[in-house]
Amino acid sequence: MIQIEKLRKVYRARGRAVAAVDGVDLEVREGEIFGVLGRSGAGKSTLLRCVNLLERPDTGRVVVDGQDLLSLSGGELRRARQGIGMIHQHFGLLGSRTVAGNVAFPLEVMGVPRAERAQRVAELLELVGLSEHAKAYPAQISGGQKQRVGIARALAGRPKVLLSDEATSALDPETTASILELLRDLNRRLGLTVLLITHEMDVVKRICDSAAIMRDGRVVESGKVRDLLLRPGSELARGLFPLPEATVRPGTTVVDVTFEGDSADRPFVSTLARTYSIDVNILGGAVEEIGDARIGRLRIELPGDPQINAAQLAHLREAGLTVEVHGEAAHDGEAAVQDETAADGGTAVDGGTAVRGEDPLATEEALS
Ligand SMILES: Nc1ncnc2c1ncn2[C@@H]1O[C@H](COP(=O)(O)OP(=O)(O)OP(=O)(O)O)[C@@H](O)[C@H]1O
Ligand SMILES: [Mg+2]
Repeated sequence: MIQIEKLRKVYRARGRAVAAVDGVDLEVREGEIFGVLGRSGAGKSTLLRCVNLLERPDTGRVVVDGQDLLSLSGGELRRARQGIGMIHQHFGLLGSRTVAGNVAFPLEVMGVPRAERAQRVAELLELVGLSEHAKAYPAQISGGQKQRVGIARALAGRPKVLLSDEATSALDPETTASILELLRDLNRRLGLTVLLITHEMDVVKRICDSAAIMRDGRVVESGKVRDLLLRPGSELARGLFPLPEATVRPGTTVVDVTFEGDSADRPFVSTLARTYSIDVNILGGAVEEIGDARIGRLRIELPGDPQINAAQLAHLREAGLTVEVHGEAAHDGEAAVQDETAADGGTAVDGGTAVRGEDPLATEEALS
């Protein structure tokens, strides 16, 4: 539904050039919810704004619903944009208009006749659960309700694509959950494709089918959430399963094991212990519901250094588990996860996903 190819956007300010988006390739499939994560300044908003050409890229291609946006004339582009709705962190409502008036606004701009407009506004408010608040003003409703107005307004032109830039960042966790549920519901009921930016791992966990991580204008990791989590060295996996830095005691092997669904029911730890007559320490771990899947990550410690444990590690891999061994050469308790990413020729992974000692995503970072 959205194809982004070799996209590049450079800002020039005070003689300095910043490549906000620096060669991004990304594909968002029809009907999926795709999340883009990354630190502040990574280029997420710029990327999103290039998808509806609020920002014109310097080079590259943006194809939405089969239309190469950069090749369109003014009028064609305006029509194409009606198929791309957008919601924002701070809602951007008109304070002088009622809820219904805010939703009617884009319809007026589109030249929809009055009677049809009223009908459509009613439909849209129903869709986002705001029918009872049609006559309220933005100052009289909660943040979550304001975002519902934002969503209704974005859907006015019956878009196939919805872009969302930190739409839940200003909301409390409970309200966030209800907005995410609404987005998931709209995605399913209307077949809406959603491209969203977030810094909250929870958003990815709850509703994203696919995700990408951006750093310095580039995509360093992207793919289906489930596939990413099961890929060794995945930053997303480390973000979703925050384990403390591994302290590898001399003469031990510390391994992060990621497993899906039924492997959770397979007692691989006790099998390993029994097969090799070793003590296996469990150092930490968690199981998460990711979409329809259950994915878990367990950090275990085996006696002996990794060379001695070659057979044990092979045993785990053969059981279909994702295995990441913390570096033998780690000093001062610093975890050096070996990047064992198989060259599967899949999604682009640029320049090593296993960055030493660096917090993969600044999830605690202040909102922009
Ligand atoms: N209009 C602009 N003029 C100059 N530089 C800009 C402009 N917009 C963004 N930048 C720069 O481009 C880079 C990427 O910015 P962008 O807003 O896309 O990041 P972001 O990932 O959305 O960050 P945040 O999480 O803080 O919203 C930053 O270095 C930023 O300073
Ligand atoms: Mg931003």
